[in-house]
Amino acid sequence: MKAQSDIAVVGLAVMGENLILNMASKGFTVTAYNRSYHKVESFLAGRAKDKSIRGADSIESLLASLSSPRKIMLMVKSGKPVDDFIEQLLPHLDKGDIVIDGGNSQFEDSNRRTASLGEKGILYVGAGVSGGEEGALLGPSIMPGGNPDAWPHVKPIFQAISAKVKDENGELTVPCCDWVGEAGAGHFVKMVHNGIEYGDMQIICEGYLIMRDLLGMSADEIQAVFEQWKQTELSSYLIDITADILAYKEDGEALVEKILDTAGQKGTGKWTGVTALHLGVPLTLIGEAVFARCLSALKDQRVAAASAISGPAKTFSGDKAVFIEDLKHALLGAKIVSYAQGFALIQEAASEYSWKLDYGSIAMMWREGCIIRSVFLDNIKQAYDKHPDLDNLMLDSYFNDMLAKSQTGWRNVIAAATLNGVAMPCISAALSYFDGYRTADLPANLLQAQRDYFGAHTYERKDKPRGEFFHTNWTGRGGNTSSTTYDV
Ligand code: 6PG
Repeated sequence: MKAQSDIAVVGLAVMGENLILNMASKGFTVTAYNRSYHKVESFLAGRAKDKSIRGADSIESLLASLSSPRKIMLMVKSGKPVDDFIEQLLPHLDKGDIVIDGGNSQFEDSNRRTASLGEKGILYVGAGVSGGEEGALLGPSIMPGGNPDAWPHVKPIFQAISAKVKDENGELTVPCCDWVGEAGAGHFVKMVHNGIEYGDMQIICEGYLIMRDLLGMSADEIQAVFEQWKQTELSSYLIDITADILAYKEDGEALVEKILDTAGQKGTGKWTGVTALHLGVPLTLIGEAVFARCLSALKDQRVAAASAISGPAKTFSGDKAVFIEDLKHALLGAKIVSYAQGFALIQEAASEYSWKLDYGSIAMMWREGCIIRSVFLDNIKQAYDKHPDLDNLMLDSYFNDMLAKSQTGWRNVIAAATLNGVAMPCISAALSYFDGYRTADLPANLLQAQRDYFGAHTYERKDKPRGEFFHTNWTGRGGNTSSTTYDV
């Protein structure tokens, strides 16, 4: 063990402990700190025994144990606990010391902390970490942003412990971790990762539902479909674990069927949706995925409504194998839309906050280690490598071709779901976005007329240059005064 530690990790919940063990396994010496010291003691006596890990029982001893510039990584609950710990650290920090927040923090908090610590000469890093317990231990995806002066000091540790992607020689050398951008950019990208995670999970659940309720398939039959999808463009960690989950039996029956259908959520999907509303980006699929969890939570109301409100009988008379192929296309089409929307949100944030982001590099950070890891991300990287300023992923030739191939099946599935009363909020919202995005003339002309009719909100005209606004006295009763224009 080195005389001084390379980094300290604060917070010995499972993510913190596993990150420390991961760092130690890569040759770094780590100081472990926790609010209650007995957790440190039991960690040192247990999982950390005989590893290059030391404990600290006070902030002073934690800081004294570190080589300069001192790097302190917080793995504590996001929000106030992060601010509280920074307050405790501040009187003891020197200029150039680095504070890293590895929790699921709100990006606005990381924007604020980068600025306020920066004024004091402290370098702040807001790093999204994904991959759950196992990822933290064996190689997570890490998305760091904040003060760029911190990056050269943090980079060797983060890139050593992160998951790796194969390079052109087939060697696992490319780290799923790179500098994302200034201030809260890292936590923003992690937030969108989580939103996409919500979307991917809900898309899979909708596929499961229609196979179960319209095709009348058993868990084993559905499992076989997911097993097959593992070999297709849908191949991903979430498809893999779905196949595992469907195969899991308790007393000879699929455990999944015994699990209550009410979803929990910790809030990162909601933040993504709220941020999209703030930035005016249509993020319909992730929004629907969050609301699908909210609807699932209304279990008692749904049970009552199931007998009170009628819908069509579910009957399927087609060819199951053909429908399942269509369903694969529906999942694929929706997935393309979800990533197109997620990247559009990141692009809008980059422009709003003046972050310089490399979208291909973000795709690679998600390629391994994280919950949304999938082969699909290689194609996203290639799309942005070809056109770094691509307006929308759907315009890339690879994805455009794939959408062309997928849309008939996708439409068949949504038609069948609608006619049979099977709710598929994400896959159908994705199709509406796809159709809306490729419609040159939307009905917003009528909407503008309505706004002008009741509130003199004015409209632009197709036969006049953009930026000229007109008001019509639609009823002859209103005046000619228009309301002021403003955008939200
Ligand atoms: C990850 C996950 C993780 C998230 C959980 C739970 O990247 O490792 O995104 O950060 O907290 O998946 O999220 P919900 O409780 O909101 O489903």
